Amino acid sequence: PENIVIMKPAILVTGGAGYVGSHTVAALLEKPNTDVEVVVVDNLSNAYRSEGQKKPEAIKIIEEMTGKTIHFYDVDIRDANALREVFEKHDVACVIHFAALKAVGESVQKPLEYYQANITGTCTLFDVMRAFGVYKLVYSSSCTVYGEPESLPLGEGHPTGRGLASPYGKSKYFCEEIMKDICRSDRKWSVISLRYFNPVGAHRSGRIGEDPAGVPNNLMPFIAKVAVGRLKELQVFGADYPTIDGTGVRDYIHVEDLADGHVKAIKLFSQTGFNGFHAVNLGTGTGYSVLQMVKAFEEVSGKKIPYKIVGRREGDIAANYADVSLSHRMLGWRATRTLRDMCADTWRWQSNNPDGYKST
Ligand code: NAD
Ligand code: WQD
Repeated sequence: PENIVIMKPAILVTGGAGYVGSHTVAALLEKPNTDVEVVVVDNLSNAYRSEGQKKPEAIKIIEEMTGKTIHFYDVDIRDANALREVFEKHDVACVIHFAALKAVGESVQKPLEYYQANITGTCTLFDVMRAFGVYKLVYSSSCTVYGEPESLPLGEGHPTGRGLASPYGKSKYFCEEIMKDICRSDRKWSVISLRYFNPVGAHRSGRIGEDPAGVPNNLMPFIAKVAVGRLKELQVFGADYPTIDGTGVRDYIHVEDLADGHVKAIKLFSQTGFNGFHAVNLGTGTGYSVLQMVKAFEEVSGKKIPYKIVGRREGDIAANYADVSLSHRMLGWRATRTLRDMCADTWRWQSNNPDGYKST
């Protein structure tokens, strides 16, 4: 009969047109022998789409690279009706939830917008998932939930939610608490909350990468814009921290390693008996200072990065890096790309696309 439609199991990726989401979509489709359907919902608040096109640039490029089709919906996750339509069209097996606003400084100016997008959006998504009997989700959390570290490296048992300075950071922490309660309420739920440290780098092809609108807030995209001549000099926020050279130390992780971590995480969903809420760090376990990052980028790109030391940025911590033992044990995952790879891949993306996706 003509009204019977056979649907392949799908992975729904919210925010899949963004930086980490697009690299994860690529990783899902690049794995050999995978016959999975990838469905992306994104409201394009922080992703680029050329005029007159249906799909965002990153999604079109991944389709070209992999020869596979990606289903794309220009949908806001706060719009329950629009989300329901997507769940009706596809047999969603699990969700990877990236969609959120993520600028720490902006969140202080616009707390309501951040809580609406990040918390109301997440609750709406869970509500629609439940209505369609979908109980498996991978969440984009952040090392920011740990606040100021009491000890290093940061293990998953470190307290969360203490002294968080920004509405952004709080929204990630609140979402984790909400998801814990949801998992406690019904054993059908499985949620893996991946706490990313500092994602950097780009796809090895140099065709997809990070494309911040305006002046970048984060270190690596800022350095890349200086190297390509779009910005004059880097301001180093503080050189009086108790670190190797006085500048802030972070655990930078290549976005392709991060993407692989998501692919490993969704594999856990097929293990019998796997359920409940699990938080897992994704980092390398090694920290580098701002000046070490500058030096590594200069070496790889052959470009000089002029910089000036200025005062500390409000809310910044001296140092953090991850305890990565749980990710090894639980996901069978570890970061394999080096600092050199992170710089080389960022540089390939930025020099090929000096104005990001607008250049393509
Ligand atoms: P991004 O801004 O590049 O990607 C987020 C995507 O979600 C964008 O494409 C945006 O258009 C979309 N989006 C935002 N609000 C939406 C809404 N209401 N409905 C539908 N789509 C919406 O950011 P990213 O760096 O790829 O981050 C992805 C996730 O990872 C976020 O949840 C972020 O909080 C988390 N995270 C990021 C970092 C980082 O440094 N990049 C670190 C830790 C955690
Ligand atoms: C790294 C280091 C800065 C810019 C942020 C969020 C965190 C998580 C990851 C989402 C720090 C220094 C930076 C510049 C500088 N995101 N710096 N000059 O602050 O560690 O983490 O992204 O969840 O929640 O807070 O990353 O890249 O902004 O800074 O000197 O122009 O570089 O002081 O030491 P951060 P970042």
